Amino acid sequence: MNLLPLNHPMFAARTLRSFARSPTFSSLSPNWEGGVSMVQGASRGIGLEFVKHLLENNEKGHVVATCRNPGQATGLLELKNKFDERLCILELDVTNETTIKASAKSIEERYGSLNLLINASGILSIPNVLLPETTLNKVEKSSLLHAYEVNAVGPILVIKHLWPFLKAGGGSGTEREVAVVANISARVGSIGDNRLGGWHSYRASKTALNQLTKNVSVEFARKKDPIICILLHPGTVDTDLSRPFQRNVPEGKLFTKEFSVQKLMTIINNAKSQDNGKFFAWDGQEIPW
Ligand SMILES: NC(=O)c1ccc[n+]([C@@H]2O[C@H](COP(=O)([O-])OP(=O)(O)OC[C@H]3O[C@@H](n4cnc5c(N)ncnc54)[C@H](OP(=O)(O)O)[C@@H]3O)[C@@H](O)[C@H]2O)c1
Repeated sequence: MNLLPLNHPMFAARTLRSFARSPTFSSLSPNWEGGVSMVQGASRGIGLEFVKHLLENNEKGHVVATCRNPGQATGLLELKNKFDERLCILELDVTNETTIKASAKSIEERYGSLNLLINASGILSIPNVLLPETTLNKVEKSSLLHAYEVNAVGPILVIKHLWPFLKAGGGSGTEREVAVVANISARVGSIGDNRLGGWHSYRASKTALNQLTKNVSVEFARKKDPIICILLHPGTVDTDLSRPFQRNVPEGKLFTKEFSVQKLMTIINNAKSQDNGKFFAWDGQEIPW
């Protein structure tokens, strides 16, 4: 017996799947058609902008936005007022695996599948906890470990718990052939591109995120799962994270959230199987490891 309501996204997915087999499928627009997207780290900054973009640019799509404190996420609550039915806000702290599992359970119960996962959360500096170190003398074990926990370990655990739903969403619900996992990394995580040094904890944690994401992408390909994983560098974007460092940014190189997310969504919307495991900058250029 089918207990899902008729307006459930799964029905839209099935309709589109049968449509996908018809000869006119290739004439559809390249945008996401329906489907379910999740943005992790959505309370503010780039993550919040992704949620807004997805809601405004895909009128049939559903968005799951996760954050540590939903009650205080004013930007998300404003979007909820406007897009009530299509936005679901869940509590998730990447350092607390119980909250990751609970979000996965909610997604299983509400949608049963996921077409896009964006891991946007990240930390660079937290007063008295995490310093953007300018010298080795400032490196502390506690800040190295904290950056690793939030920037590398957390996003990978999120993928682990959402894997079954990404597998179910791959090639259905939207016109793309695969589900997409986009982990927001940073160019400073590139070892090959490291000319300035510094920011030991942040850099190394993003490098770890890159390697873990690459590893997961290899496993998905080997298992023939219809999921691709990509890493994205958003550019230097005007958010709380970059604010203390913006005075050194050359003119014209500090992007708005809107500009960066527009560029990143173009990469996501055009991602193909052959992009699995790649690290792209906002302009679509590949970044060396
Ligand atoms: N802005 C840039 O110039 C820039 C450049 C390169 C890469 N990036 C990357 O882009 C991503 C987004 O950065 P942003 O600029 O938008 O930063 P932001 O404005 O500081 O936002 C960071 C987000 O991460 C969330 N977060 C922090 N710790 C978390 C945890 N333990 N569990 C779940 N969420 C947590 C924050 O939630 P709370 O509100 O609960 O703190 C917030 O939503 C990050 O991965 C960052 O490394 C940014």
